[in-house]
Amino acid sequence: MKTEQREPALWALIPAAGVGRRMGSDRPKQFLRLGSRSVLEHTLDIFLQHPGIRGVVLVLGVGVDRDAMDLPDAGGRLFLVTGGEERADSVRNGLGFLAQRGQPDDWVLVHDAARPCLPPDDLDHLIAVLRDDPVGGLLVAASTDTLKLAGTGDRVERTLDRSRVWRALTPQMFRLQALRAALEAAAASGVPLTDEASAMEFVGASPRLVEGSPMNIKITRPEDLDVAEVYLNRQQRLRSAR
Ligand code: CTP
Ligand code: MG
Repeated sequence: MKTEQREPALWALIPAAGVGRRMGSDRPKQFLRLGSRSVLEHTLDIFLQHPGIRGVVLVLGVGVDRDAMDLPDAGGRLFLVTGGEERADSVRNGLGFLAQRGQPDDWVLVHDAARPCLPPDDLDHLIAVLRDDPVGGLLVAASTDTLKLAGTGDRVERTLDRSRVWRALTPQMFRLQALRAALEAAAASGVPLTDEASAMEFVGASPRLVEGSPMNIKITRPEDLDVAEVYLNRQQRLRSAR
């Protein structure tokens, strides 16, 4: 008898339940305008336009008025979930939802709502590199600055080897069940996490580093909005020149 070989599905999970304290604006930064649309709409579009993504789980803050939101018509591929106190809690909530819908070995691409400049080519590259990987991994960018490790006070202890240090970006792509178990384990031990790869590291896995574009910034402070606009225009220009 022939056994069915099932390709694991790809899901996107977008944590968008933060308040944007460092931005200090009148609403969370993912709802701020960037060109003609909101930051969140730009981000969602990248995943909803991708033909390989089965569905997108959008994690929103408790107080967000969903009816007032201008969400794209995603043909049933967009699911809304309520977030938690920390980013990791929001991701755990999204994974809890996905666990009822997907298969344990499905891939989940976790991507910050605040990163609207992810180049679609980087998304494709990440998926292509990791599709058959036993662990999964994340997009990273090199540091162009020399990196110093602080010792006591404001004194340098030493200079880091820049060729071995990478800045963690998103998407971060892991198997649904493995990531869920890792995040639960880290939460149970009270380990603070700022990304998914840290949770996988916590349980002893070695996520793969996949170099991506430094244009994939996380909008954090007011000046980042201007930079993001420049990068989006640049990407648009490069696409039309192809
Ligand atoms: N996020 C989330 N749930 C939280 C906190 C953050 O879903 N409890 C999301 C944010 O909406 C953002 C992403 O995680 O898309 C990255 O977090 P960050 O850049 O730190 O956003 P904020 O927490 O909103 O900003 P700040 O830390 O300045 O308050
Ligand atoms: Mg935060």
